[in-house]
Amino acid sequence: MSEKRDMDLTLKIWRQKDAKSAGKLETFQVKNISPDSSFLEMMDVLNEDLVAQNQEPVAFDHDCREGICGTCSLHIQGEAHGPDRAVTTCQLHMRKFKHGETIHIEPWRAKAFPVIKDLIVDRSAFDRIQQAGGFVSIPTSGNTQDANAIPIPKDDADTAFDSATCIGCGACVASCKNASAMLFVAAKVSQFALLPQGKVEAKRRVLHMVKQMDEEGFGNCTNTGACEVECPKEISLENIARMNREYLNASIK
Ligand code: SF4
Ligand code: FES
Repeated sequence: MSEKRDMDLTLKIWRQKDAKSAGKLETFQVKNISPDSSFLEMMDVLNEDLVAQNQEPVAFDHDCREGICGTCSLHIQGEAHGPDRAVTTCQLHMRKFKHGETIHIEPWRAKAFPVIKDLIVDRSAFDRIQQAGGFVSIPTSGNTQDANAIPIPKDDADTAFDSATCIGCGACVASCKNASAMLFVAAKVSQFALLPQGKVEAKRRVLHMVKQMDEEGFGNCTNTGACEVECPKEISLENIARMNREYLNASIK
């Protein structure tokens, strides 16, 4: 049994009809929220109440609810994914809040992530960056080699895996005062840069992905480090240093 009592909360939530409409914060009350429930379960309770009162539920993104898909992107109390560390919004528990607290909930704020409705933003800019080079074109059907046939130093494999844990949530962009996407792009470049399978397209990959990042309207990196602090997968700033080296190498003819 939880040591904390169920909570009554005031929610200040960003409501916006569509991309073209002006938005504003609206105030809601939720009652008897278990501290053991997740933040999205609390949002479900709110929406069930709204539907019961013939009001429109609050639109928010979610899918896996297991910290995998990266869709549950909410700015909570001024922090991407809320006040906990190394968790997504779907993994955030209500025990992080207090009975009677007022919680502000807003969408990601970045020019390259326009609001579609309420708390949902359009993150297709990330998809276009991935499409610009975030892949390998080695044959993967028919005569695929056994993974162990290519020797890779353990440290490189582990570091590449750490980079590959980026779930594309966009918290790095939302936390950055410049709305820079460098941590995301650097993770996607790094996961291939460290492996022999990624060498073939390495130069083209980093040049194309950075070009697409700039075209999407993300800001520049000024090494503040907020992205690393708010990233639910603890993607390291070292990825940005690695991507800068890859970019420099690729730029030298
Ligand atoms: S680097 Fe971290 S914060 Fe940025 S998209 Fe990937 S998982 Fe999300
Ligand atoms: S809903 Fe998939 S990471 Fe939160």
